[in-house]
Amino acid sequence: METLHVDLGGRSYPIWIGPGLLRDSARWRALIRGRHVLVVSNSTVAPLYLDTLAQGLDGLRWSSFLLEDGEAHKTFANVGRVLEALGELGATRDACVIALGGGVVGDLAGFAAACWMRGIDFIQVPTTLLSMVDSSVGGKTGVNLPVGKNLAGAFHQPRAVVSDIAVLDTLPQREYRAGMAEIVKGAAIGDPAFFAWLEANADALAAREQAPLIEAIARKCAYKAGVVSRDETEQGERALLNLGHTFGHAIETAGHYRELLHGEAVAIGMVLAARLSARLGMSSDEDTGRLVALLQRLGLPTEPSKAHAPGRLLELMRLDKKNSAGTQRLILWRGIGKAEIVSNVPDDDVLGVLQ
Ligand code: NAD
Ligand code: GLY
Repeated sequence: METLHVDLGGRSYPIWIGPGLLRDSARWRALIRGRHVLVVSNSTVAPLYLDTLAQGLDGLRWSSFLLEDGEAHKTFANVGRVLEALGELGATRDACVIALGGGVVGDLAGFAAACWMRGIDFIQVPTTLLSMVDSSVGGKTGVNLPVGKNLAGAFHQPRAVVSDIAVLDTLPQREYRAGMAEIVKGAAIGDPAFFAWLEANADALAAREQAPLIEAIARKCAYKAGVVSRDETEQGERALLNLGHTFGHAIETAGHYRELLHGEAVAIGMVLAARLSARLGMSSDEDTGRLVALLQRLGLPTEPSKAHAPGRLLELMRLDKKNSAGTQRLILWRGIGKAEIVSNVPDDDVLGVLQ
């Protein structure tokens, strides 16, 4: 098992990564301060893992709230329902929310925990690879609005992240690959040695071998934990974690969120960001080639669908949350492990890589 820490002074918390942690309740139960626990999960994950988790809640006053499965259910209305469930439980200020599921469950449950009595404890129990390496770490919580993804939310750090990698045995292959994209992203942004390690271990990771998988999760979490410790509320460096996202979100939106998983869109987005960086003379085609080759070995897509017109994608990119009024800000790179924020990228160059 690996243990890491997100260092935020009095709000610091552990990330545990290893097989069998759901059953190892002595470890995480000690963090539950009061008597009330609400487990938030969904209709796919709960039948698989809620009973195992619940064995560790014996003696506490607990109940569960299950979402329907899917991004479409990450809504304000469901936050309201979770708050009502906390009310029915009689949850006091020392109550704890446990998020058992992927990023959808974690983002929504964390936001509900941030709202109940202006903020109670929550524990992340991520069950997808993407949520283990990205969404469970760093305290970004929230829901989608009809006008856009993740537009309502709060920074609210968990008390712990409990990543039981045994639960990945039931994760569909496509979801596993999407999580791999977020691991590659961390290395591509800021850790060239990790990138080289991923190249050396890509086949073992694609085959889901346990030891390299734990190491990959831990290295990505360690990288993200460092960034979050230095810039919790995204005043600067944390924005780099969005490498590939501006392109990726545009591609996801153009496909009405049905064509691609988020991680797949990020994979394509990173390649487009790398190509744009090379076009602007910031990086080499060789580094783009290494990125493409690694993503492909991990089974990820690297080209956008030809069905989306470049002009439409550019229009969608302008709506990105990272833009300040009137300027297009993009995360680009100066080669593997060296991402940076670039403002005022000419539209012609963006269109050039979308074509
Ligand atoms: P998800 O939560 O929709 O899970 C993907 C699918 O896998 C779902 O169908 C889910 O029911 C299923 N599943 C989960 N665990 C399983 C398991 N162990 N076995 C079998 N099936 C399982 O998607 P995701 O990729 O985990 O997360 C995506 C969400 O995370 C998006 O809403 C995105 O906005 C958010 N996100 C947040 C952050 C953040 O910093 N807060 C970062 C990245 C992504
Ligand atoms: N997923 C980007 C962040 O946590 O900041």
